[in-house]
Amino acid sequence: MSGRFITLEGGEGAGKSSNLEWLAEQLRAAGKTVLLTREPGGTPLAESIREVLLAPGAETMADDTELLLVFAARAQHLAEKIRPALARGEWVLCDRFVDATWAYQGAGRGLDQSAIAALEKLVVADHQPHMTILFDVPVEVGMARAGKRAALDRIEQEDQAFFERIRHCYLERASEQPERFRVLDAAQPLEQVRGQLEPLIEEMLSWP
Ligand SMILES: Nc1ncnc2c1ncn2[C@@H]1O[C@H](COP(=O)(O)OP(=O)(O)O)[C@@H](O)[C@H]1O
Ligand SMILES: [Mg+2]
Repeated sequence: MSGRFITLEGGEGAGKSSNLEWLAEQLRAAGKTVLLTREPGGTPLAESIREVLLAPGAETMADDTELLLVFAARAQHLAEKIRPALARGEWVLCDRFVDATWAYQGAGRGLDQSAIAALEKLVVADHQPHMTILFDVPVEVGMARAGKRAALDRIEQEDQAFFERIRHCYLERASEQPERFRVLDAAQPLEQVRGQLEPLIEEMLSWP
């Protein structure tokens, strides 16, 4: 028995967290056992790595350090949480996954794509999501929303151009992999974003 793996992607303030629980409720109402999780993090050890990644510190974090920490957290998350849940036949809904690494560390930081590809092969292997929902929103809109939250973390403190590269990368990946990605206009009001999610839920529930 094998479960389903759904990831939510998008920039800051796009509405991923606001829709994760709602999406889970719809799937539970249809009888699915759903596990909610997020990256970086998802297990105690991976959440500790998240804290290291996001804490604004006195010492500048080298780009390769960031990349390796992201994948270290992901390896732990897959081993301890995602793979066992999928093996039990559960539906795993994850707030960000490997596409975020391509967007943030790849396009955002400009890290070597062959390094990311090698780590993806090592860590993710054949556990690519069955569906990735991209919450696409103009950077200014997302930033204005996110700005209303708590203090910005280390990565949220980057400049607008960094987030524009991330948005562009996500959209490019979505157009290159249309079988996996579904793109939402996340600038719309929450009710309408949920309206866009409804056909995706139907699509998931029609899977064999
Ligand atoms: N469609 C929307 N319209 C207006 N505000 C929204 C919408 N979606 C989310 N928000 C608000 O924007 C902020 C960021 O949303 P959040 O779900 O935390 O984004 P993300 O997890 O993608 O960074 C929250 O305050 C949330 O209430
Ligand atoms: Mg969030």
